[in-house]
Amino acid sequence: MGIGEERAAARIRTVADARRLARRRVPGPVWDYIEGGAGAETTLRANVAAYEEVQFLPRVGAVTGAPPELATTVLGTEVSMPLLLSPVGFTRMMDPAGDVAAAGAAGAAGTIATLSSMSGHTIAEVASAATGPLWFQLYFLGGRAGAEQLVERARKAGYRALVVTLDTPLPGNRERDSRHGLSPPLRLDRRTVTKMAPRVVLHPRWVLDAARDHFSLDLINTTTLVVDGRTLSSLEALWHWLAYPARWEDFSWLKEQWDGPVLAKGVLTADDARRAVDVGADGIIVSNHGGRQLDSVDPTVAALVPVVDAVGDQVEVLLDGGVRRGADVVKAVALGARAAMVGRAWAYGLAAAGRPGVDRVLRILRDDIDRTMRLVGATRVSELRRDLVRIPSTWGA
Ligand SMILES: Cc1cc2nc3c(=O)[nH]c(=O)nc-3n(C[C@H](O)[C@H](O)[C@H](O)COP(=O)(O)O)c2cc1C
Repeated sequence: MGIGEERAAARIRTVADARRLARRRVPGPVWDYIEGGAGAETTLRANVAAYEEVQFLPRVGAVTGAPPELATTVLGTEVSMPLLLSPVGFTRMMDPAGDVAAAGAAGAAGTIATLSSMSGHTIAEVASAATGPLWFQLYFLGGRAGAEQLVERARKAGYRALVVTLDTPLPGNRERDSRHGLSPPLRLDRRTVTKMAPRVVLHPRWVLDAARDHFSLDLINTTTLVVDGRTLSSLEALWHWLAYPARWEDFSWLKEQWDGPVLAKGVLTADDARRAVDVGADGIIVSNHGGRQLDSVDPTVAALVPVVDAVGDQVEVLLDGGVRRGADVVKAVALGARAAMVGRAWAYGLAAAGRPGVDRVLRILRDDIDRTMRLVGATRVSELRRDLVRIPSTWGA
């Protein structure tokens, strides 16, 4: 981690600052990959905007000067705050430290990082660099045979939970990526890199970092799977994945492979939440993939309410999408989420200033959770309940 990164991180005061810095540091196509959503990006915008529709109903005169207790548990794991890191793919192209930085920053902050199947470092590498608990997000790369190997690697490396992403039977319509020649399944090969070149040279620091990292932009989990006695090529692993998207039927098989908790990510309706419980999911992540998959679905903080009402007494419900402030985390938890998760917020930090950037973003969010809890009159996470917020009547509470 360079002095430059420390200096850049020190300039970040808000997640929006991290976003601005990230946009400047990385080449346009990398920025568009981080920031972009699907279709008209309606859901991408709505996820963020929906938090503005949740009003606090604070209890004044209730707290002492003592700091509130932010610690809680998520599926049996203690965390220092109700905020976790969502899986983000291709992070090594944002900064060479990639998922290693995320795992390190999460551990230092006392929370959980979720490693994407689309990572640039191996499952074992990230685990050995981590200082805190990790979850693994599973795509069926290489089909079931490939998934079995990924699950085995995660088990051996000590990951605590599996996150099965269900909203990606194929990549969403990411128009920004296709404009850059990064068509799904997103692939960085010589052709696309050449196409990107004119925009990449405008970002010499990024180029230097990437060169020092030997342009290690491969998705390592797609190049190391052995099926029918042969190592798959990256393209083959991705085609098997698209031919074999995760389905509810896979949960019973997964539960045989994996002793720990299994979470269903991408649930947006009460019906699917009940389905997740029926197939044995231990947790649900209400998510629309940060507006990157099906456009024109409910913003997640709105979708959270009916899901919590349907299954909140049976499984833990988390959410991600649009969380940019600690106050958003407090709103989500008050509405029944066990914890909120962030994707772009930490990716912005990483792209802006490497590991120190992720540290900084997590610190900013924690401080804002702390401050907001005091201001709404809560001394611990369990006091964040629905009567502390008012939501639009159309949200199906
Ligand atoms: C750049 C980027 C890459 C992502 N890659 C993955 C992935 O590999 N697997 C996955 O399940 N979700 C992935 N997601 C979705 C996130 O896990 C999460 O659902 C989303 O980012 C939450 O919205 P937010 O970015 O507004 O916080 C990705 C999101 C972004 C922004």
